[in-house]
Amino acid sequence: MPALPQYPTAEPFLPAKLTLPLLTDAAKGCEGCDLHKHATQTVFGEGPKDARVMFVGEQPGDQEDKAGKPFVGPSGMMFDRALDKVGIDRSEVYVTNAVKHFKFEQRGKRRIHSKPSARQIAACKPWLKAEVEVIKPDVIVALGATAAQAMLGGSFKVTQHRGEAIRDTTWAPCVMATVHPSSLLRAPDEAARHAAIKAFEEDMRAVKKQMDQLKGRGKRAPQAARGLAEKVAWASRASRPSDPDAKSSGEMPKPRSGARARHARHA
Ligand code: URA
Ligand code: SF4
Repeated sequence: MPALPQYPTAEPFLPAKLTLPLLTDAAKGCEGCDLHKHATQTVFGEGPKDARVMFVGEQPGDQEDKAGKPFVGPSGMMFDRALDKVGIDRSEVYVTNAVKHFKFEQRGKRRIHSKPSARQIAACKPWLKAEVEVIKPDVIVALGATAAQAMLGGSFKVTQHRGEAIRDTTWAPCVMATVHPSSLLRAPDEAARHAAIKAFEEDMRAVKKQMDQLKGRGKRAPQAARGLAEKVAWASRASRPSDPDAKSSGEMPKPRSGARARHARHA
């Protein structure tokens, strides 16, 4: 067992070499925060190494926790349907979560989803960062506020910026945020549900468009996109109030030595 630092982080559990099989395997033993104690298993990301788009949810739900796979429950079904509708093949995309263990409250026999804390999100971020380093997606889609804030900082508002192609991030040539597919299931009535599904599909269409536009630009795209940095309002992440959890905001840890040039953007 690696020596643990004072604050919760998955960092000591990462393998020395970053490959998907090594990461997936190492994540099984992660004790980077307290969430591993009650969950059934780590639910790591899934998808091909050459995926051009990565979807990031919040954390596994009850069914994902049991299956060990992301987005296989009711939210996953909504997600799959929307992808299908706009012609994105799920088997070609990489799907993961900001937090890799299910956090819940036990109520009788039921396990009720409980929101991960900013500290837990920060603790788990090395896994997400490693997944991004391996996959190098052209487009990363944050599904819901937790994923969006993990990547874009605590002041990012999905409601204000959903569906926008965000060019200046340390993560990928294009980052986009939309609502979490579980919100489609919570719509209060049929009309609202229909509208929510339509809006989600619209965002997935925007994702598809970005995928098509960025295709073939290869791995030089991020550098090309970096010039826009100063123009992005929420880039002023440092201006957040004295938030004890500020560590969880947009900045990425420094690249490990030997990381390829592209990863300078993570610094
Ligand atoms: N919700 C998520 O955010 N991720 C999953 O994998 C399932 C439900
Ligand atoms: Fe590790 Fe993330 Fe699980 Fe916490 S939630 S134990 S950091 S994998």
